[in-house]
Amino acid sequence: MARLFLFSFFASLLFSLCFAEIRYSDIRSDDRPIIPFDEFGFTHKGQLELNVSNIQLSNQNPDLDLSKVGFFLCTRDSWLHVLQQIEDGEITCALQSDLIKHVFTFNKLQKGQGKFSVLFPENDADQYTLVFANCLNSLKVSMDVNSAMYNIERNNNRDYLSAGKTILPRVYFLFSLIYFVLAGLWIHVLYKKRLTIFRIHFFMLAVVVLKALNLLCEAEDKSYIKRTGSAHGWDVLFYIFSFLKGITLFTLIVLIGTGWSFLKPYLQDKEKKVLMIVIPLQVVANMAQVVIDETGPYGQDWITWKQVFLLVDVVCCCAVLFPIVWSIKNLREAAKTDGKAAVNLMKLTLFRQYYIVVICYIYFTRVVVYALETITSYKYLWTSVLAGELATLAFYVFTGYKFKPEAHNPYFVIDDDEEEAAAEQLKLEDEFEL
Ligand SMILES: *[C@@H]1O[C@H](CO)[C@@H](O)[C@H](O)[C@H]1NC(C)=O
Repeated sequence: MARLFLFSFFASLLFSLCFAEIRYSDIRSDDRPIIPFDEFGFTHKGQLELNVSNIQLSNQNPDLDLSKVGFFLCTRDSWLHVLQQIEDGEITCALQSDLIKHVFTFNKLQKGQGKFSVLFPENDADQYTLVFANCLNSLKVSMDVNSAMYNIERNNNRDYLSAGKTILPRVYFLFSLIYFVLAGLWIHVLYKKRLTIFRIHFFMLAVVVLKALNLLCEAEDKSYIKRTGSAHGWDVLFYIFSFLKGITLFTLIVLIGTGWSFLKPYLQDKEKKVLMIVIPLQVVANMAQVVIDETGPYGQDWITWKQVFLLVDVVCCCAVLFPIVWSIKNLREAAKTDGKAAVNLMKLTLFRQYYIVVICYIYFTRVVVYALETITSYKYLWTSVLAGELATLAFYVFTGYKFKPEAHNPYFVIDDDEEEAAAEQLKLEDEFEL
């Protein structure tokens, strides 16, 4: 089963490699009235290159009004107005609106030639979507679309990253440096406390190193796309590392949640089950992410994959919380019955903190980052990435700090005062239901 998952994952990688920011899309016998292609944030010196070939229309009637079939650029705001115009009956086709920018309509198509090329300069800085509209009922269109959108930099180089994303390579690189430093620090701590380390501490090292490598590849991948418009090689590494990072991170959260290796040397059956759910789901989530990134919104399956990704992600995030809850329950029961109540209480507090931090981390990196992405102007899209990476960094640092190897482990050595305070707390705990 696992092998099948892995195989399909790598197969999906290979098939999707030819796509990148310079986009090649095949449209086959499509009668959708609106097909959105890529979205791009232009600066004042932007350009759209559009080469379309192998155009075939299902209806060859020369009376057909082909001015109702074509490509245009449109911002999100003006799209809403266009929809309003259509609703109010002012126009019948999006291509008739004065709020859009015509790129090419098919009435300009030369007789007998199934292809055209346009170079469209875009000097109004904004975020535009390239859209294909087909307002003729029952006309099916087939074509190969090659599109590239880029901004011209001051030194006349092309920048294929959207206006709000152009500094992302630097952001990723900076964070990867931070994680490499963290990994070095962690090795130092492991070496100094080598008598009290558990296996989980090596696992944590692996997670940090994978995160650093993942960010490094993402930085290189993005800067390659920025320069050339296509991803080349680095995107494979990037996907492999984000796949490994995703799996190890979720496994780590589950393992720490169960207290594996520092509370007990084994996993219970139900805890293993959580892992067996989370790991394959992470595989699916990564496959969905690859498809989403590489195909763009023109594909009919794009939305489906987006939903699959969201669903799987939510399930994973909920699943990792269970082991922590079980541990908290066990510790509470032990604290009530055990003589060493205070010791267990310390652990209980620790696990409770961990529970809250995991929830905050999940909430922040999913909901808040998504909200930021939606509300910020296209020019500041990188801020949502920055916020997400900062939250992730805080989570890694918290986890490392709270579960670091301790020479004199504070969870096991407690003086009398603390024990009294802890017993006091235990009474309060009774009222606190999870
Ligand atoms: C479009 O065609 C021109 C001329 O053949 C070529 O230079 C350019 O790279 C093509 N652009 C894309 C995006 O395919």
